[in-house]
Parts: sequence; structure tokens; C-alpha cells
Amino acid sequence: MGKEIRIVKAEKEDLHQIMEIEALSFQEEKFNRRQFLYLLSHSLCYVAKSENKVCAYVILLQSVRIHQLRLYSIAVHPDARKKNIGKLLLQKAFSLVVDLQKRGIYLEVKKSNKEAISFYTKNGFTYSGEKKSYYPDGSDAWVMRYIKE
Ligand SMILES: CC(C)(COP(=O)(O)OP(=O)(O)OC[C@H]1O[C@@H](n2cnc3c(N)ncnc32)[C@H](O)[C@@H]1OP(=O)(O)O)[C@@H](O)C(=O)NCCC(=O)NCCS
Repeated sequence: MGKEIRIVKAEKEDLHQIMEIEALSFQEEKFNRRQFLYLLSHSLCYVAKSENKVCAYVILLQSVRIHQLRLYSIAVHPDARKKNIGKLLLQKAFSLVVDLQKRGIYLEVKKSNKEAISFYTKNGFTYSGEKKSYYPDGSDAWVMRYIKE
């Protein structure tokens, strides 16, 4: 039987493990400790835990003026991928859309990140535009949206 995965609000004590996942998941554009500390108290930050170990995180931003949440970052530990943990985090994000009375979620993803684009598409996001040279390395972003039914 698979181990139980709990989705809970991220706490400061989770920071070390979140940063490990960050380091293993992104080559550039990694958040540093100071940025994560800020995000922990100024965003909707959730972690997936298996036997008390953090195996994934998601960060969403909300603004009173904007009717959509922004999915700012999501990453699953490489050893825990393809086990539907990313999907569980998106389901949490979708429930926040309902709770916060928002219309949906938008995000930017590297155009070259085919795995992530496939993951978002299979979970109800659609392409809604492109941002040229969006990332510091000069690569383009796709904007994707999920609209609440
Ligand atoms: C993108 C990412 C978050 C997806 O997380 P994940 O937990 O692997 O996602 P899921 O398991 O929910 O789904 C991914 C795939 O695994 C498949 N899968 C899920 N459970 C599975 C299982 N038991 N056996 C085989 N495949 C399985 C899903 O069907 C899906 O495959 P598909 O895309 O071919 O349909 C993860 O790959 C990641 O952290 N990438 C690096 C960071 C990153 O790029 N983040 C996005 C930045 S915008």
C-alpha cells in the first residue's frame, strides 16, 4: 500500500526541505532562503508530506484586485515524481480558488519545460499566451490558465 500523503500549510520548520527540493528541481531562477521566508508569510504556501517528510511544495499568490490566483512555483522531489503528488497540490490550489472566491489560476512556465506543460494541460490548464524573453536566461514563457467551472 502507498504511503499516505498529507497536504498541509508550510511552516518555517519545512524551509530546509523545501530548499532541497528547489535545488534539485531548478537549474536557474531558484528562490533563496530569504525569498522563501518572505513567501512563507506572504503567500499561500503548501507542502505535501509523507511520513512527516516534505516531498513537494506549491506557492500561490493572491491579490485583492485580481480575480485569479497566481501559481508562483510548484516542485516535487525527483524521487517522488509521477505518483500524483503534483496533482494533489493542484487539487489543493483548485480548492483555494473556490474558498477564496476567485475565478481561476494563471501561471508562467518555461516554453521548453515540456513535462510541466504536459502536467498542467492534463490537469485542466490551457495555453493563454506567450511572454518573450521572460526568464533571466532569455527564454520565453507560456502563460497558462485554469478557469473554475
Ligand atoms: C511538473 C511536476 C511538478 C509534476 O509533478 P508530479 O508529482 O510528477 O506530477 P503527477 O505525478 O501528478 O503527474 C505527472 C505524470 O505522472 C503520471 N503518473 C502519476 N502517477 C503515476 C504512476 N503511479 N505511475 C506512472 N505514472 C504516473 C501522471 O499521469 C503524469 O503523467 P503524464 O504527464 O504523462 O500524464 C514535477 O515534474 C516537477 O517538480 N518538475 C520540476 C519543477 C518544475 O518544472 N515545476 C514547474 C515549474 S512551472
